[in-house]
Formats: sequence, C-alpha cells, structure tokens
Amino acid sequence: MGQALNIALLPGDGIGPEVTDVAEAVLNLLIQRYQLPLGYTRFDWPSHAWHQAHGEMMPGDGVAQLREFDAMLLGALGDPGPLEDPSRFVLSDSVSLAPLLALRKQLDLWACERPARWLPGAPQYLADPRAREVDMLVIRENSEGEYSGQGGRLAPGTAQEVATQVEVFTARATERLIRHAFQRARQRAAQRETPRQFKNGKHAQVCLITKRNAQPFWGDLYTDTFQRIANEFPDVDTHHELVDAACMKFVQCPWRFDVVVASNLHGDILTDLAAVLCGGPGLAPSANLNPDEPTLPALFEPVHGSAPDIAGQNLADPRATLMSLAMLLENLAHHHPAIGSAAQHLHDLIQADLAREANGDPFSGTRETGQRLCQWLAA
Ligand code: NAD
Ligand code: IPM
Ligand code: MN
Repeated sequence: MGQALNIALLPGDGIGPEVTDVAEAVLNLLIQRYQLPLGYTRFDWPSHAWHQAHGEMMPGDGVAQLREFDAMLLGALGDPGPLEDPSRFVLSDSVSLAPLLALRKQLDLWACERPARWLPGAPQYLADPRAREVDMLVIRENSEGEYSGQGGRLAPGTAQEVATQVEVFTARATERLIRHAFQRARQRAAQRETPRQFKNGKHAQVCLITKRNAQPFWGDLYTDTFQRIANEFPDVDTHHELVDAACMKFVQCPWRFDVVVASNLHGDILTDLAAVLCGGPGLAPSANLNPDEPTLPALFEPVHGSAPDIAGQNLADPRATLMSLAMLLENLAHHHPAIGSAAQHLHDLIQADLAREANGDPFSGTRETGQRLCQWLAA
C-alpha cells in the first residue's frame, strides 16, 4: 500500500458544517471498514466565523496549504443564517465566496462536473414519467468567462455610476473544456449497461449551450471549437441550444440530454435547474477538477449554498454532500482498489436510503439521515 492520502474537509458556513458532520462520520466508518489508506484534516476556514475572528475568510497562505492535500470536500460558503437573526455576522457574497472562486481559479480546476441523475425515491417535480430517465452530466467551464473578475465601478453611488463586468473567453480554455465534454460523453456511453439512442444510431451526445444570438463573440468561438472537435468524435451526436431555450427544454424534455457543456455562468444557472429535476438541492453533487493535472487536489462540493433559511434547524439534506464524497472517493480510486469499493458502497447506501422515501418515508432530518446511514455502514 502506498502512502496515505489526505483529504481536506472544509465545512464552511450555514448548513455547511451540518452536512459535513454527516460526511465526516460516514468517511470515518468507510476508512475503518475498508482499511482505506486515507486520512483527513478538518479546517475551520474558510468561513464567516474565521472572518469574524481574523478579519479574513482564510489565512493568506490558505490556497497554498490546501494544495498539499489529495482532495477537498467543501460544505458551503455564504450567509450563515439564521435569517431571523438581524444581529448575525453578515459579509457581502463577494467576500464570503471569494475563497471558493480562488480555489477553483488558483488551482486551475477548470472543469466543473455536475451529474444530474434522477434516482428512485427522489422527489419528482415533473409529472411526465419520462422524468425518471433524467441522466445528464453538465460540464461547466470553471476558470474564466463571466467569472473573470475584471471590471469595476466608476463613480460608485452616484447617478452617473457605470459598472463594467468583463467576460473573457480564451481559445485554450474553450478547447480543453469542449474536448473534455466529448471524452466524457464517449466514456459514459462505454460504461452504460443499456445503450442510449441519439441521432444516427449514436449512443452518446454532447449539447453545447451558448447565447450566440446576442453574444456572438464568445458564442462563435465556442461554436467553431465545438464543430472542429466534434469531427474527432464521429461516434458522438452533437446538438446546440441557446441557453434560454435550454431552460425550457430542461423542463419539457430533460431526458433527451446526455452531456451538456456550458460557460461558467450558464452552467451555474442550468445546474440549479438540473438539481431540481433530480429531487432538489439536497441531492445534487459536484466536482471541480483539472483533468490534465491529476496531482492537483480536486474540490468536491454540493451544488447548493449555505441555505441560511434552514441553517441550524436539522433540515438540510446531507446527501448532496455524501454524493460529492462518493465522487471524491471515485476520483482517488486509482490509488487503491479499496477506495473504489468504498465509493460504490456509499453510492449504494444513498440509493437505498432514497428508496425508503419511495415507500412513503419522508426526509427525516440531517442528523437522523446520517445516523441511519452510519448504522447501515457499521452493520
Ligand atoms: P442555497 O443553495 O443556499 O439555497 C437555495 C434554497 O435551497 C434554499 O431555500 C435552501 O433552504 C434550499 N437548500 C439548499 N441546500 C439544501 C439542502 N442540503 N437540503 C435542503 N434544502 C436545501 O442558495 P441561496 O439561498 O441562493 O444562497 C445562500 C448563500 O449561499 C449565498 O451567500 C450564496 O452566495 C451561497 N452559495 C454558496 C455556494 C457554495 O458554497 N458552493 C453555492 C451556492 C450559493
Ligand atoms: C455554485 C455557486 C457559486 C458559483 C457561487 C457561490 C459563487 O453558485 O458553485 O454553483 O456561482 O459558482
Ligand atoms: Mn450555483
């Protein structure tokens, strides 16, 4: 067995620590049961609480410290709640979320993978029975675009104020993103037991999202790159949707999508919608990765935020975080086969837990869900 791998647990704010507590308990049991060559360190930064005490969300060398880990699991950052408490410590989102964007950008975790698969027992908000077939992977650009952070406010607070927010799209980032989307589509088709059918007898599809009718500069860069790379993947069906129409079709016929590739902001918005197609924010995991640099620690996190409206009430569903932990373990599985077995076990447990709800048992609370899964694991 090689050297132990180290995971950084970053609970963050609001419901973040509540769902991370569950993930930590499950991780401990998996480490014991599978004798995993894994250890972890739980950090009290980045967080509002750390900011309150130290005047910053994390130490100046925070990213450098985290770079030394093999993977990171983040709960959530943002308003800690409870919303009814007007005296709570509140920071602007641009301050509290800066560490998340810094980690993505400074570690060059340029691909954000957000799988959206409806699992039996999950709430089904669409009446059409085909909504149970939803199984897509949204790949979001994670390093530039609308999140480039360039711009400013001129004459702030005056009637003459001008705000600019510059979007930056580079050929390099576009190329690697779209190529990754085609590779993942091909890989998913190869792993599927029952093939899916797309146009011309193909078993995989990539749908490109743009707003090229109104934003032609980056829209055309994406389109040209997409068409060029598609030629290298004749086995993968291709498709394009304008982002507004994509929102409609995510609701009308989401079962038609396979891999969806989108810019940073479009991917952000579409993945909250995709989360609801699969049962809601408590069931949507994500991974921030650099597929070219597997030695960089990938960052796993639920799609949801700090949920200040329910923080501290034992109402947060911890399963999006557990699904993110399963993705983290899968990502480290090449180091040791037992890590892959633990990931599969965790997937199976989450599915079994959801299946209970198909039998009419309602969501039973953050801690109770954690306790039940831990009992099953310890059995
Ligand atoms: P949110 O995702 O925190 O909450 C949206 C809605 O979903 C709320 O009604 C909330 O109660 C519900 N919800 C979220 N997670 C849930 C869970 N696990 N179980 C049950 N219900 C859940 O989004 P918001 O309210 O727009 O943002 C709150 C804060 O979180 C903001 O500061 C925002 O910037 C931040 N945020 C952080 C992240 C992150 O850390 N990755 C992601 C999104 C938003
Ligand atoms: C997400 C979040 C973040 C994003 C925010 C909190 C900056 O919404 O991870 O989906 O927009 O990327
Ligand atoms: Mn989001």
